[in-house]
Amino acid sequence: MDTKIYVIDRDDVADNNGIYECAKIISQGGLVAFPTETVYGLGGNALDGDVSGKIYAAKGRPSDNPLIVHIAELDTLYDLVEEVPESALALAKKYWPGPLTMIFKKKDIIPDTTTGGLDTVAVRMPSHPVANAFIRAAGVPIAAPSANLSGKPSPTRASHVVDDLSGRIDAIIDSGAVDIGLESTIIDFTGKVPVILRPGYIDQKMLEEVVGSVERDPTLDRVIRKYERPKAPGMMYRHYAPKGELKIVDGAMEAVIEAINGFAALYDKNEVGVITTKENEGRYTGCVVLSIGERSDEYSIAKELYSALRKMDELNIKHIYVESFEGGQLGDAIMNRLKKAAGYRVIHIG
Ligand code: TXA
Ligand code: MG
Repeated sequence: MDTKIYVIDRDDVADNNGIYECAKIISQGGLVAFPTETVYGLGGNALDGDVSGKIYAAKGRPSDNPLIVHIAELDTLYDLVEEVPESALALAKKYWPGPLTMIFKKKDIIPDTTTGGLDTVAVRMPSHPVANAFIRAAGVPIAAPSANLSGKPSPTRASHVVDDLSGRIDAIIDSGAVDIGLESTIIDFTGKVPVILRPGYIDQKMLEEVVGSVERDPTLDRVIRKYERPKAPGMMYRHYAPKGELKIVDGAMEAVIEAINGFAALYDKNEVGVITTKENEGRYTGCVVLSIGERSDEYSIAKELYSALRKMDELNIKHIYVESFEGGQLGDAIMNRLKKAAGYRVIHIG
């Protein structure tokens, strides 16, 4: 299949021909990768079970891992779900459009294929202007997982989508780099209390400011046991992972730098890499150094993290060390992705 690329400026979405053409592909049952503020998504008509099947196939994703349904207007939510609890509506009013996904009991209009057989559905209203215009033009809710091959880090620029899915999907909308770089926060409203299934840019504090106390899925902060099923099936898979062996090194900064330099000395310098920030990039020797933003600006780290993991693969790095990035608004989300990518290998220094 020939994958068409549409370059669309985020400031030029009104009456945009490329957007109309992509919307037409959706109405014909095709697949279009598109930018959102979090990561690029692989979109198709959420109301067509066959299309969801095509999405799983293009990604090489297990079909029991449900898709997020993307909408452009709050009214659409009521067509898709049985009930919208008051606290969920309050969150929607505060954070939609934005990087927040909420889970509800689904209506029959959503095919079982889209939700991997679950009777619940995840819904999100993205804030990226291109995403918004594309969903509106399509005229149907858009099912979209991250537009990466299953198991790879999510794409934060169109070139990542090209690398993974070129030839497997109909079109890719290229609007440059995304804003946030980590997937949306997921909160489940189908139980007695709201539960965070995946941390993201909207952190626990921002949620609790609106709805009072929320819980965290217990499988978020540790290795998932063999017979355990996390509520978000996708959290089970070794996700976001580079090919090399990734280890997180945690402790006082000076000691961490010294330890990583020590590990690097054990290997050929082309086979070992470190992910750090501008503040420390000059401190490492005998290894490939990738700097992702500045420690003083956690948003810059989130934005470049997946790109750095992909880069390590391109460079064929076998041993990857990464500094720890706890704290702040994004620390929870960054460390959740890093721990999963590292298979929970954390080296504590001191
Ligand atoms: O930021 C995002 O959310 C991006 C952009 C494209 O919107 N999408 C994204 O989708 O990250 P995906 O498919 O890569 O991750 C969706 C996660 C998976 O872990 C999946 O298991 C979970 O959401 N999920 C989807 N529907 C669910 C449901 N009904 N119940 C529990 N978990 C669900
Ligand atoms: Mg994903």
